[in-house]
Amino acid sequence: MNEKKRILTGIRPTGKLHLGHYFGAVCNWVKLQNEYHSFFEIADVQGLTDNFSNPEKIRINVREVTIDLLSLGINPEISTIFIQSTIPEIAELTVFYSNLVTMSRLYRNPTVKTEIKQKKELFGNSGESVTYGFVGYPVSQAADITAFEGACVPVGEDQLPLIEQTREIVHKFNSIYGDTLMMPEPVLSNNPRIKGLDGNEKMGKSLGNAIYLSDSKEEIEKKIMGAVTDPNKIKKDDPANPEVCMVYYYHQLLNNQNLETVCTECKQGKRGCVACKKELIQVMMEFLKPIKEKRHYYESHPEEVDQILKDGNKKARAISKQVMEKVKKNMQIDYFEQEQ
Ligand code: TRP
Ligand code: SF4
Repeated sequence: MNEKKRILTGIRPTGKLHLGHYFGAVCNWVKLQNEYHSFFEIADVQGLTDNFSNPEKIRINVREVTIDLLSLGINPEISTIFIQSTIPEIAELTVFYSNLVTMSRLYRNPTVKTEIKQKKELFGNSGESVTYGFVGYPVSQAADITAFEGACVPVGEDQLPLIEQTREIVHKFNSIYGDTLMMPEPVLSNNPRIKGLDGNEKMGKSLGNAIYLSDSKEEIEKKIMGAVTDPNKIKKDDPANPEVCMVYYYHQLLNNQNLETVCTECKQGKRGCVACKKELIQVMMEFLKPIKEKRHYYESHPEEVDQILKDGNKKARAISKQVMEKVKKNMQIDYFEQEQ
């Protein structure tokens, strides 16, 4: 494969990354970076749509998320990590695209719809929490993707309506102004969402059931010791069903070499839950060891992280400038030669 396609995906810097991010998305990105030119956007402007009154949260997490991505195996030698707000073309494109989308279409977007519903549950029905910026963030996301001619967008299922929205904008833009923008395709990660240790279908910050890459051993011990097991197992030597046990689910996820033994011993009542959890703590710490080592390295070399971001911003900007030239030309708003 000579001409590698370009991947563009983004992540909101609203908190440190946890195992749900890794198994649900980032492990896929790590693999894809060898097959595609990969661009990972730290979507700080999008993060601000929900956190505009809490800018320090976004600022801190831009670096935290970058460090998490690097620790999980995103390789800055072959991939580009950059910050959304350093690319002014994204904001410009957002304005241009805003004419190509109706309000009712935005309100019908299933992702936006669900999020509005959640906001109303949180803030009451006044609608005051629903800002223009929030309803419009799919337009800004279309700008994220098209500013870098992202051909493929690796995302989870919940993001599909946003990619569909982008495709509609691209279609409309190209049919009005001539063939300009690249039509993106979603790449669905085949990893399902991972469950929480509490048995919840989803691991998430707001659910309080997440294991962070930056968690200490003590925090991990506490979380695993509190995990949900087979409720029918009362005594240590009761036989149990590993299929309904979250500890077993995580043994599977982390590829414990000892998996068959865990399973048979559990079924035969030869394994106590406390010992089983302790084994999981061991396996989890082993899994996190190289990640934590890298994390520690980058935490103590902040100038290196900054340099990676600066280089990434520059590489990304070079592309978005070219795209903007085409866009302005075709929209007939390129008034002078060498405008910039
Ligand atoms: N909306 C995405 C999320 O919440 C993050 C994101 C921002 C993104 N820009 C993007 C994803 C561009 C794919 C492409 O997870
Ligand atoms: Fe779960 Fe292990 Fe207890 Fe079986 S022995 S119920 S797998 S914690």
